[in-house]
Amino acid sequence: MAQFTLNINSNTHQVDVAPDTPLLWVLRDHIDLVGTKFGCGIGQCGACTVHLDGVATRSCLLPISSIADKSITTIEGLSENGDHPVQKAWIEHDVAQCGYCQSGQIMNAASLLDRTPNPTDEDIAQAMNGNICRCGTYTRIKAAIQTAAKEV
Ligand code: FES
Ligand code: FES
Repeated sequence: MAQFTLNINSNTHQVDVAPDTPLLWVLRDHIDLVGTKFGCGIGQCGACTVHLDGVATRSCLLPISSIADKSITTIEGLSENGDHPVQKAWIEHDVAQCGYCQSGQIMNAASLLDRTPNPTDEDIAQAMNGNICRCGTYTRIKAAIQTAAKEV
């Protein structure tokens, strides 16, 4: 076990965990930020996506010891009132079905629009390719990203 100081959603948290503990488990089990989901645990589905210094990152494979002073943003910290353009577009398009994959989808989409404010269909397809939705909401996800792009 070791002590780690983490900057999560602009708050400082201290945790005492094994250095190889994945960030996902620290978020969910130690800090009670359960919006970030466990899907596959092997980096293949995107359900666990958070931002690390603004970049979409899969938290299920990320050892806590590798984070250092990078700032972590989870779905709970993406906006103060759920009013990030991506979140608003998600509501407008009624994207979610069961919802399980959606925080990962939203975090990945927000990161895409940060670096590519006017994405082409191809940019969206490429960026979102690794985020799996077992409910098949892909068409609505794409439409919502196009709507959000008009606002960022
Ligand atoms: S749970 Fe991390 S990629 Fe699937
Ligand atoms: S909304 Fe159900 S897994 Fe995507």
